Formats: sequence, C-alpha cells, structure tokens
Amino acid sequence: MCGIVGYIGEKNAVEIIMSGLHRLEYRGYDSAGVAVIHNGAMACVKSLGKLVALDAKLEENTLAGRIGIGHTRWATHGAPSERNSHPHFDGPMEIAVVHNGIIENFQELREQLKSEGAEFRSDTDTETIAHLVRKYYTGDLFAAVKRALADVEGAYAIGVIAQDHPDLLVAARHGSPLIVGLGAGEAFIASDVPAIMKYTKDVLYVEDGHVCAITRDGCRVEDLHGNPVAVTPSHVDWDEAAAEKEGYPHFMLKEIHQQPDVIRNTLRGRVEEGSDAVSFPDMNIAEEELEACQKIVIVACGTAWHAGMVGKYLIERFAQVDVELDLSSEYRYRDPAVPPNTIMIPVSQSGETADTLEAIRVAKRKGARVAAIVNVVGSSVARESHGVIYQQAGPEIGVASTKAYTSQCTALALFTIWLAQIRAQMTKDEAQGMIAQLRELPDKMQWILDHQEDIVRCANDPKYRDAQSALYLGRSYNFPSALEGALKLKEISYIHAEGYAAGEMKHGPIALVTEQLPVVCVAVQGDTYEKMVSNIQEIRARNGTVLSIATVGDDRIRAHSDDVLYVPACPEPFSPILVALPVQLLAYYIAANRGCDVDQPRNLAKSVTVE
Ligand code: F6R
Repeated sequence: MCGIVGYIGEKNAVEIIMSGLHRLEYRGYDSAGVAVIHNGAMACVKSLGKLVALDAKLEENTLAGRIGIGHTRWATHGAPSERNSHPHFDGPMEIAVVHNGIIENFQELREQLKSEGAEFRSDTDTETIAHLVRKYYTGDLFAAVKRALADVEGAYAIGVIAQDHPDLLVAARHGSPLIVGLGAGEAFIASDVPAIMKYTKDVLYVEDGHVCAITRDGCRVEDLHGNPVAVTPSHVDWDEAAAEKEGYPHFMLKEIHQQPDVIRNTLRGRVEEGSDAVSFPDMNIAEEELEACQKIVIVACGTAWHAGMVGKYLIERFAQVDVELDLSSEYRYRDPAVPPNTIMIPVSQSGETADTLEAIRVAKRKGARVAAIVNVVGSSVARESHGVIYQQAGPEIGVASTKAYTSQCTALALFTIWLAQIRAQMTKDEAQGMIAQLRELPDKMQWILDHQEDIVRCANDPKYRDAQSALYLGRSYNFPSALEGALKLKEISYIHAEGYAAGEMKHGPIALVTEQLPVVCVAVQGDTYEKMVSNIQEIRARNGTVLSIATVGDDRIRAHSDDVLYVPACPEPFSPILVALPVQLLAYYIAANRGCDVDQPRNLAKSVTVE
C-alpha cells in the first residue's frame, strides 16, 4: 500500500522524506516521488520503480527545501507510471498532494472539475483532490483542504503543501493510516511509525475525519466542520533498532528468529508466574458477557485467518463455545446472522486491513461486541473495536507474516484458557498446566532455530527448491499449519502450493501426486498422528515425495518419508505454534535460494488498506 512521509522544520526535507520512504518500503509500491518548496517555488521529482531509481534522479536533480511531502505509490487507479506517481498538483502546480486510499466518487468529481476548466495530468483519483483544493483556495490552505474533503467520498490519508504557505503542512485522514510526529522545531507526517522514529517518538495517531494544520511548532487539529479537536500525542517505545534488520539478510529471517522473544512478550503481563489467572487489561469485555456469549465469530485475512482457525479449534475444544470462522472479505458481504450475545474477534497484524475493518462495522451494526487481536497499537481495528488484546509482537516489516502469526495463535490460546475458566469448562489446575505448557514454547522454538541444518539442506535440494508446485497436508490443529505453510511458500518463492486437510486428500488432490510433487506432511504426535501416517503411506505408494514434520524422537516416520524436519514434543493443541517455524524457514530458504525478493514479494503489500 502507498506510503506517505512529510516534513516541516529546519533540516533538509528531501533527506528526511527519502529516509522515511525507505523505511516504508515494506508496504509495497511501484513508483515514488517527492515535492518540496524552496525559495518560494514548488519543485518535484518522480520515478517509476524502486526508490533507488528516485535516489539516482535526486542526485542529478538536487532538490532542497525545509518543507516537503513524499510518497511511494501502489497503483489503484491508473497503471504504475511516472505520470501517475505522487505528488499530484493543481493546474498552476502550486499545490501538491500525496494520498493513500481510494476516492470512490473521483470520476464524478473529475468530470465536474474538467467542466470547470481543470486540466488533468494523470489517471489517478488523487489528482482530483489537488484540483478541488485549488477550487476552494482563497488564501487559506487549511480551510481549502477541509472544504475540498467535504466533497470527497472514500478512504484517504493525505498530505498537502502549497507554494504560498512554506510554513504549513496540512494532513487529513479518513480510513487510511496516518500519524503526525512531533519534534523540537520540526514535525513529520507518515503512514507508519518506523518512517520517522529516527527523528521522534512522540506521535499523534490521526483519527478519521480529522484535519491537521502542522507547523514547525506543533499541530492543530480540527474536524471537517472546523470544530477544534483536543489531541494527546503518544510516546512509542519501539526503538529504532527494532525496525532494522539487525544483521539478518532479510527482515523475514530476523522476524522468524525473534519468535521466542515475541511469544514471551505476548504472554507478558497476561499471566503471573505460577498462577492460573489470565488477565487482559485492554479487553474491555466483562466476564458476564463472556459467560453469556452464545457464539464467537473470528474474522481475518490471509495468515491472520489461519491463526483464527487455530483459535477456533482451541476455543471450541476447551471452552465449548460455537465459533464461526470467516474471511473478512466474505463476512462483510454476506449479511451474516448475528444472534444476541455474539462476540466477534477480528485478528489483524496491521490493524488496517480494509476488509477486516468493514467486517467489524457489519458485526457492530448487528449488535456484536468486538474484541480484537491486533499487533499495531492505536491502529484502526484497535480503535474501532470495543476492546483489544495487543499481540505485543513489535513491528513486523517483512511482507510475509511470521512472528505475527505465532503471536496471534498464542494470544488466542491465552484467550481460550481465560474463557474456558470463566465458563467453568477448565479447572484452575488444568489452566495452570496449559499456561505452563505455553511458557515452554519459546525454549522449544529456540531449539528449532538452533537446529536448522535439515531445513537448510532440504531448501537446497533440487526436488524441493526447483519444484513447480507443492502440497501441504495436516489434520486438526495442524490443518491451519498446512494452509500457512503453503501460503508462505507460494507468496515468497512463487512456487504454486496448496494446503489441504489431509482427510480431503482422497477427495481430489491425490490426483496430483507424482514423483515431481513434494508433499509436506505435518505429522506431529497427537490424536491424528496415525491418520497422518496412513496419508503419508498412500502418497509414497504413488511415488510421491514426502517431507514430514514430526516430533523429536519419532524415528518410525523416517521409514515413510524422504526427509523429516523435527520439532520438540508439545501438546497437540499448541503444536501449530512450533510447526510454524520449520514451514516459515523452509519457505524462506527456498525463496532465498531462488533469488526471490523475500521481504517484498512481487504484487504484495504489507498492509492491505483497500479492498
Ligand atoms: C501473508 C500475510 C497476509 C496477511 C493478511 C492480513 O504472509 O502477511 O496474508 O496476514 O494480509 O493482514 P493483517 O494481519 O495486517 O490484517
């Protein structure tokens, strides 16, 4: 998704904007641009492709200024091209706009503005905003932006500068992420905190419908009607190093290795040492509501949906509550039945996923209470939900989700233990036992990270590395592991991969089995182990190549498998949290061996803020 960075202060705006845009590269983009005001004149440089291309252009074409806006664009309206890249301008090129989101009524506005004489230079929806601001501009930029936005329908985060106002940066938000950073004698805007945390950690999370007049001395906020809004900045405690690679070749690998600490963090503050009591301070759902709850609905997208599936299995088994799991993009359009006493649990790393936000709105309109599992503090999902369980996983930069997934599964496991006790489905002793097992997971994860040789060897083996496609099979709690393994492989290595419930194998996918098809079988110890071994034998009988993921000490499985990757013993319900590591690492090393852009896979964006 698009990334926005803006600056006003005494330093070189271009340097600060470019450094911020580089920090937002994880969001995915196809072109970029920057505009500044210098000596009373607007100047702009844009480029198609990666930021290095813009860096090169900027070297030739030195831009300077103390105020400016920059943007990385992920095309929605109009092909990726230099003319469609941001910033966009009004007719005389005196007002510059960067935008993230989609203006839904842009065709209508464009026709109207054209009939009034505006000449468009791009195919974008964003350019309508620049012309609208010009239309309403009578010397007061802040007023013109507010008036222009009143005509706009859709989602936006915008930054606006004008040649006549070298001391003012205007920003506004409706449905797309935007923050304002406040420094000493300087201020910033950005789509996300890592862009500016090198310069300040005092951050204002801009709310929907708010417009900010930002100067070197601070930020004044009003709603679209001009009513002043009181705001309080937050201090973010992520340090700068947290957003860097820390010596790993890719963010994804770094984030895979962070998982033992991430799981400790997710548990932190929620369970006391030696206690059976779970507490979620921000959850904001009363115990009586959890007791009365008839149904839980989990909505999410992609990897978060796989974590939601682990959650469904856990909650149904241990708390005996009916759980409906749906993709947010389906839930929002299917007019779902929401009986009284329904609790929705949206799961989202970014907290900005458009479909998940809309699913929340649908459920709220129908009377559900919403308690979200979210990583990004202050994100839209967190703010629109009644309560929240923060994952406490730290920033996830790699586009492919890794640590967010295991932390979501852990948060759902903790929630299950809490709910099961409240609903008298679990004794204190049982709860204590399960919490102790959760606490052991980080060390077990570390064991997997310390024993990667077999994973690295398999990822170098041509039968896996050069495969055209792959099948992942799992049962019960590890059906989501199969889905997640296949998603990881396909999204970063571009090998076609399917995840299936192993019990479905004979209902179709077995037709694919040949020597050329690697089948990754999750066969850890548990209730479904013997069934998995039968599936493996059926695959081998058809000359299929089997890569099993099994429990340390299981030598029997070697006889049935071409290769085996081991995870430490663990109760089956929590095993997806361990199995995630070998499937992530296998996908990572295969993708890296194939020379793929692991952190920014083609066509993918970290935060899917439009449908
Ligand atoms: C896959 C991946 C995506 C996200 C999905 C939801 O590796 O990262 O499938 O899980 O786009 O994103 P969030 O969790 O931010 O709502």
